[in-house]
Amino acid sequence: MAVILSLVGRLAGRSPLLTRLAGRLMAYELRHLKGKPVERQLLVYQLPDAQLALANDLRVADTILSDRAGSFPKAAVLERLLRPLIGGGVFGQAGGEPVKQARRIFVRALTRIPEQRVAEVAADLTRAYLADWQRGGGEVAIPSELSRLTIDIVSEASLGARFSAAEGRRFVELFFAYHRRVNPVLLLLSPQDTAAQEHLVERMGLTAIGAEMRDLIRKRFVSPLLAATPDAARAPFAATLLDAAAAGEGVDRSAAGDAARHEAMLDEIAVMLLAGHETTASVLSWLLWELAAAPAEQDAVGTLLATAAAADGRAGANADGGADEPVTRRLAALIQEALRLYPPIAFLLRETTEAVSFRERPLKAGGYLVVSPWTIQRHRALWPQPDRFDPGRWLAAEPPAALADRLAMIPFGYGPRVCPGKRFAEAEMHAILAALLGNCRIARTRGRTPHPLGSLTSRPDYDFRLRITPRGAG
Ligand code: HEM
Repeated sequence: MAVILSLVGRLAGRSPLLTRLAGRLMAYELRHLKGKPVERQLLVYQLPDAQLALANDLRVADTILSDRAGSFPKAAVLERLLRPLIGGGVFGQAGGEPVKQARRIFVRALTRIPEQRVAEVAADLTRAYLADWQRGGGEVAIPSELSRLTIDIVSEASLGARFSAAEGRRFVELFFAYHRRVNPVLLLLSPQDTAAQEHLVERMGLTAIGAEMRDLIRKRFVSPLLAATPDAARAPFAATLLDAAAAGEGVDRSAAGDAARHEAMLDEIAVMLLAGHETTASVLSWLLWELAAAPAEQDAVGTLLATAAAADGRAGANADGGADEPVTRRLAALIQEALRLYPPIAFLLRETTEAVSFRERPLKAGGYLVVSPWTIQRHRALWPQPDRFDPGRWLAAEPPAALADRLAMIPFGYGPRVCPGKRFAEAEMHAILAALLGNCRIARTRGRTPHPLGSLTSRPDYDFRLRITPRGAG
């Protein structure tokens, strides 16, 4: 590992070709993060210009993410990598008062979308996608189709509008290209050398992709929303942002006229669309991949859903998660296990603003800290048979022993930057799964095993296909 890192450090930034090669080597390492070396409680790498410490010690993770979160802001490289897409949107920002304010507005906006509405939109759209997939022969490119579906759900539930099918496809294609170009190799440059970092981001070719994606968002969502007062019931997120701006909060960051206001609104809507769809699409893609090889799991949940639907008179009618306890528990177990094994944001990246000592190991100011839901949630000291997909661990009479510590399961993060979309995501994933598993069987087709991409998120590295057939079709 050390040899690869030092080689990568020398190659990065020299030329586009060498940068790409360096990136490949680095991503390879991140993708294969498992086993003893990354299970150490605190692992410190000396990068060419800074230290990077990976903390699996749950008390250290707590200190970084929560107790002393103010001293460990989100790393600036994150903002640099995401800026072409989300501009100054909250997700990429290090911290401080503006972020607190933007988060307050996000949370307020999200609480105005009732979970019942999220579940209904998700169930209706999933059924429509299912019908399309059947018309197309039933062999479905899962990651990209789930991305389109989850973008539609987030945009419909929060903005009252959707991309056309062609726009949705283009958006998904562009975001996948963005992922493939984003590269952790940026960490190998000095954290203080912003010019070199910006130069490298430029070389990754993110600006043009980000601009096209922002254009799609602007045309389909932002311009129509600004042209007329949005209906608060259909577009609660947009209406809340505009109300907040009118009250002098949030969006109107520069107060420099319509164009700036427009861009600020675009930034926050981009965050909502991107953070709100990619994560759920990635977890569900992995879950379907696992379920496709576990017909007994599919049958168990399919039978429960069919019984609940028969009692209710409509397939998937209990998809909102509240009505039928056995169905809800089973779906929750599937989702929890997928979130444990495949947390979409595998690394929470922070910076040290001051010298600090963890586990008696001094760390200098200006380095990187990583808390990884991926390594913690697969840690052998915490989880029995950690690499095994086993939803049953969530159905036992006793909850998993690891949960005695809140930090052992952190797919949504922890502390002041914890995901504000957790309830939205859970309602959405329950509804999608109920509509899918209540109506269909899923099987693998030929093709290689996907790997987590390991750059921005742990999404699958290629658009694998699964066969989806209606239940009862033999
Ligand atoms: C399975 C689904 C999801 C997972 C696993 C997930 C995970 C996360 C994690 C780990 C973070 C924190 C990153 C950090 O601390 O560095 C985060 C932040 C965020 N998430 Fe989610 N998320 C999911 C779905 C959603 C949804 C559906 C929305 C919106 C509807 C959303 C909106 C956000 C936003 C706006 C932030 C940034 C908060 C900030 O910067 O303070 N997420 N998410």
